[in-house]
Amino acid sequence: MAPVEQASFVRAFVRMAADSWEQGWHERNGGNLSYRIPHAELEPLRGQLCPGPWQPAGIAVPGLAGESFLITAAGSYFRNIADDVAGCAGIIELDEAGSRWRACWGFAGGGRPTSELPTHLMNHGVKKLATGGAIRVIHHAHPANIVALTFVLPLDGATFTRELWGTISECAMVFPEGVGVLGWDVPGSAQLAAASAELMECVDAVVWAHHGLFCAGATFDAAFGLMHTIEKAASILVKVRSMAPEPRQAITDENLRALARAYDLSLALPLGQ
Ligand code: 13P
Ligand code: ZN
Repeated sequence: MAPVEQASFVRAFVRMAADSWEQGWHERNGGNLSYRIPHAELEPLRGQLCPGPWQPAGIAVPGLAGESFLITAAGSYFRNIADDVAGCAGIIELDEAGSRWRACWGFAGGGRPTSELPTHLMNHGVKKLATGGAIRVIHHAHPANIVALTFVLPLDGATFTRELWGTISECAMVFPEGVGVLGWDVPGSAQLAAASAELMECVDAVVWAHHGLFCAGATFDAAFGLMHTIEKAASILVKVRSMAPEPRQAITDENLRALARAYDLSLALPLGQ
């Protein structure tokens, strides 16, 4: 039987973690990653799973009863995941109420799931429901440019969305539903998890002011690509705003409407006339 580390979803998880580290999004233990594992992908690994005692998750997500996740460990460094996935991450299973978890693999050396477990689980819960189970990856990172924007833009989703769409044509196509934005709150808290999940019903990306970004995707590529696109757009915005108080030209509402017509996008914002 091939070791858990060789399973294709574990290798994809590791690759995404390494790529995200290379982007500079994960200083120290910053950020976390989770994957809701399809039963068919978990089944061949059953013989290597070793369930531990049940632990409270701090929240309840009944829609995730019995689901299993590969998830980073609290305090683990993304930089080390490629060399030591069993020490930096683990597989957990949820109970029949979706309110307790138990470790089944990994967390070598006595680790436990990320302190952002409540947000990961609540986001998975709403995304599973909203997408018929299609969305399986939740990624949290600390990209510098999107965080920098939370100091200068009003903290509302409509403003962030229009500003990001205005940087490169790709943005409105990659996230036509826009992004959500939340004001500062205590990391790891149940109220931040609930507020994030409420926004995640309509968007795949939620900005946490002065902290970072959560992205959701059906695949590792989709989640990584969304984070990458938003942070690239944010970096352009930071450059433009640093170079000139007013840009000389920009992507107009009419440009966005033309994009929507050409690519059959339903853009989430009311655009000006
Ligand atoms: P963890 O090390 O618990 O995953 O926390 C990192 C983080 O980014 C908290 O928001
Ligand atoms: Zn964080």
